[in-house]
Amino acid sequence: MIKISRVVVLGTGTMGSGIIQVIAQSGYRVKMQDISDYLLSRAQQRIEKSLSKLVEKKKISVEEKDNILSRIVPGTSLDVVSDADLIIEAVPEQLDLKVGIFGELDKLAPKHAILASNTSSLPITAIAAATKRPQQVIGMHFMNPVPVMRGVELIRGRVTSQETIDSAVEFTCSINKIPVVAQDYAGFITSRVLNAYLNEAAYTVMDGNTPKDVDDAMVYCTNMPQGPCALMDLVGIDVIVYVLGILENEFGPKFKAAPLLRQMMRAGHLGRKSGRGFYEY
Ligand code: CAA
Repeated sequence: MIKISRVVVLGTGTMGSGIIQVIAQSGYRVKMQDISDYLLSRAQQRIEKSLSKLVEKKKISVEEKDNILSRIVPGTSLDVVSDADLIIEAVPEQLDLKVGIFGELDKLAPKHAILASNTSSLPITAIAAATKRPQQVIGMHFMNPVPVMRGVELIRGRVTSQETIDSAVEFTCSINKIPVVAQDYAGFITSRVLNAYLNEAAYTVMDGNTPKDVDDAMVYCTNMPQGPCALMDLVGIDVIVYVLGILENEFGPKFKAAPLLRQMMRAGHLGRKSGRGFYEY
């Protein structure tokens, strides 16, 4: 098994920032890489804000917050991976982009390093095929919001080795998350099951139910932590439609996105990030 101590996260959006935060909070030094200084400083601010909330709630001290932030090292060059044991890629969800990056990582990262992708739906086997070490490529699917969600879905590509799985399991436990191993079919376990549920919820709104009634029904009658419409607003309507498209390609028309979701996309009602989705923010 590979002993992981040096970690690099590529991509500092919502998911990347959350991943960097939880890794640094667990005592690791973590390098974060993105394509511009602007994106890196935005991520730093986001992580600082999230840690400040923990200070306000007295979950960590100011000193701990400063120590966590000091363990995060920013960089714009992909060369930051040259001494990494584990690289977690969290760039936008485009197969071509990820394939290109994994080809580069394969050249720049040490031979022993594990290359992980935070994709929520794309095939790990296809990403792994861009490298000469497909047995060391794995999916590490963190969930949104990363600091709060307990589980990480680990995806076993067609040729991912057991040693790679074991190392990723151990690392996931070391950052206080619960690992769950899934097979490499589109959407794995979580995105496949969750998006079927979310899409059906959109149909119930099309049938004339209000988003609030749909959410209340699922929260109060089935104990979901939040309703599906609120969750779609959190994840992003565009992301849901995109993932449904990938699921439809793999599994057929049962995953066809509800017309309401497409209409919302056309209107720019993408959820929290655009100020309006099923609800207004
Ligand atoms: N960052 C950090 N902390 C956050 C947070 C965020 N973005 N959002 C909420 N929290 C914290 C709150 O501060 C609060 O902490 P305390 O208990 O210490 O006060 C705690 O989480 C609970 O938050 P709230 O009281 O505001 O609200 P809630 O109880 O409804 O919890 C929630 C919010 C955690 C989002 C919860 O509703 C939930 O678990 N929803 C389901 C989320 C889910 O299914 N995520 C997976 C999405 S799919 C995905 O991620 C896959 C993909 O690839 C697209």
